[in-house]
Amino acid sequence: MSQLDIDWVRAQFPAFAEPTLRGGQAFLENAGGSYTCRQVIDRLTRYYTQRKVQPYAPYEASRLAGEEMDEARARMAAMLGVDTDEVSFGPPSTTQNTYVLAQAFRQWMKPGDAIVVTNQDHEANTGPPWRRLAEEGIEVREWQLNPETGSLDPADLDDLLDDKVRLVCFPHCSNVVGEVNDVAAITARAHVAGGAFVCVDGGVSYAPHGFVNVGEIGADIYLFSAYKTYGPHQGVMVVRRELGMALPNQAHYFNADSLYKRFTPPAGPDHAQIAACAGMADYIDALAAHHGIAGDAAARSAAAHDLMRAHEVALLQPLLDHVSNKNSVRLLGPDRAENRAPTVALDLGRAAEPVAAELAGHGIMAGGGGDFYAVRALKAHGIDPDKGVLRLSFIHYTHADEVERLVDALDVVL
Ligand SMILES: Cc1ncc(COP(=O)(O)O)c(C=O)c1O
Repeated sequence: MSQLDIDWVRAQFPAFAEPTLRGGQAFLENAGGSYTCRQVIDRLTRYYTQRKVQPYAPYEASRLAGEEMDEARARMAAMLGVDTDEVSFGPPSTTQNTYVLAQAFRQWMKPGDAIVVTNQDHEANTGPPWRRLAEEGIEVREWQLNPETGSLDPADLDDLLDDKVRLVCFPHCSNVVGEVNDVAAITARAHVAGGAFVCVDGGVSYAPHGFVNVGEIGADIYLFSAYKTYGPHQGVMVVRRELGMALPNQAHYFNADSLYKRFTPPAGPDHAQIAACAGMADYIDALAAHHGIAGDAAARSAAAHDLMRAHEVALLQPLLDHVSNKNSVRLLGPDRAENRAPTVALDLGRAAEPVAAELAGHGIMAGGGGDFYAVRALKAHGIDPDKGVLRLSFIHYTHADEVERLVDALDVVL
């Protein structure tokens, strides 16, 4: 099947059949977190109802609990094109994962070393973790977005790279600009020009639109939050072996040899949520099977990604055309759907929250009024973060009808 079967897709998400959520409302704040697929909910329910909470003990329920956790790591790693122990399930959020990683870099780097951060990122991959390394004498260099286009120009990165730079942190896709950054090309530049490692926030803004083959794109660290990718509230992080074994261990001393434990600080993980992460792989596999896609896990995931993206791009272009034609709003990021995720932030020149509230009255659930933790990106565009932007975001399960309803509602409220 060459087109996404949207009815089949929606049938995998119980939220679409839930009267309290349905109620005539179109969900267009997916960048804040997606609905959860049935496969994940089923695994979570099974864990809580049929397994013991404490895994890896020698009795049946506990053994199965441990197996389900191991399965989640192995299946996610296979989709992401990396070794099983290069996938860590950390705390529930990406922000906490970067925070722990930064502690490792804090111990590993020397005064006079440098890192590169951007002003396009969500704060999770810039302020609390990385910019605070300046307190240790680390030089922090900012790769700045173009205030007209919102883009990060790779040529500007070249000017910041030299042999002092140990790490380059950037987003796969900003949660307000929406442009998809060429991770493979940027990573290659950082590796070659400065010998630096890269930390990519796959975050909200890219991972929900399809899992990528991290092995192929070459990122040393790739992070995302499973609650944005139809899963449980769980931070997921790929740390490639060379870097992961070089950075100081942040876990119990007796776990230092285990790559997937090294950046999970001493604390019990959320067993049920980790086990439920395998449901994301179940969903991708079911989607692939339904559309007649074969191959290994990475190939199935890549083909599923392409189907999802094609659907999203087809729905996105009319929305971009519509908002680009309005004098009263400014679209952040590219106006071509192929270059961006369907995360559409609009500068209204006035407070966005009342407009989001008005949209709710027209059956549209939108994100409004906030800076979406992208304060630096908004300021760089000359937008007052207190007024914020209106954000309209969808993923592959969104129906064309919902985008049409959005367009009609925008005509009324703008
Ligand atoms: C691009 C991006 N990165 C990181 C995050 C932070 O994720 P978490 O809430 O898991 O810390 C978000 C959250 O919205 C985001 O949009």
